[in-house]
Amino acid sequence: MTEIVASGYDAVYAAWLSSPAFHEPWAKHAVDGEVAPGFEHLNFARVFDLARLRDAPGLRFGDRVVDLACGAGGPGAWIAQETGGVLVGIDVSRVGARLAHERARGCALFGAGFVVGDVAHLPIADACAAGVMSMDSLQYVPDKRTTFTEVLRVLGEGGRVAFTAFEVYPERVSEVPVLGVDPIDDYATLLRDVGLIVESYEETPGWRDRLVAAYSAVLAAEPRLRPQLGDNAMDALMSEMALTLQIEPYRRRVFAVARAR
Ligand SMILES: C[S@@+](CC[C@H](N)C(=O)[O-])C[C@H]1O[C@@H](n2cnc3c(N)ncnc32)[C@H](O)[C@@H]1O
Repeated sequence: MTEIVASGYDAVYAAWLSSPAFHEPWAKHAVDGEVAPGFEHLNFARVFDLARLRDAPGLRFGDRVVDLACGAGGPGAWIAQETGGVLVGIDVSRVGARLAHERARGCALFGAGFVVGDVAHLPIADACAAGVMSMDSLQYVPDKRTTFTEVLRVLGEGGRVAFTAFEVYPERVSEVPVLGVDPIDDYATLLRDVGLIVESYEETPGWRDRLVAAYSAVLAAEPRLRPQLGDNAMDALMSEMALTLQIEPYRRRVFAVARAR
């Protein structure tokens, strides 16, 4: 199942950076015009939200920042630059990981490293990360219990994971590829089940309006976008966005912080 995700995102990232027609509606609708220049991303976090992640009580990114499903690396690079942390990003998209690497080099984050792989298998030694982050990606991961068990394994004592992700309605995605594989309607229960201590867990305000506006704007811009993005990327984006607007799979978008014992 991760092959479907990887090939879709490979196509998107291959065309994405050179498509102003994509970034303009995304910035305007997904993040209220707030994208830190040079840190473009594919999520719903405004600079304000990234700052909140950076400042989450007890979260230490100063040692090693592990960014799960880092994509093209924007959010992780922003956090690493702000905190002086050493960034390790993991994503199934080879193209995303390459862009993340180039971005980190451009930001002079020389110790940064990026791995192509599934976040359920972190190529990181036990207890060596102080902070783990992830932005708007975990809903796609086919084995979330194993992923959070891995997060707990790599976190040092008192280390924390902070993430945003979409809770899904399992009954709405039972026939849907990727989202239907391991649908989670409450990450807090899962975090506790694997042994993490949940410190905060809340719905992020205004996410639904911004998601509908951003996806609608991208779909409406298809005639302008297709020549810039190409058929593979455009088809991947359209199938995900149209389906999301049609079946409304997301219950909430949550921001969570949890710590190892
Ligand atoms: C919506 S994008 C967000 C990317 C990035 N976090 C950002 O904020 O720009 C979702 C990302 O999740 C990645 N992804 C999905 N499933 C994954 C998995 N099992 N392991 C690693 N990466 C995964 C995709 O390749 C894609 O880059």
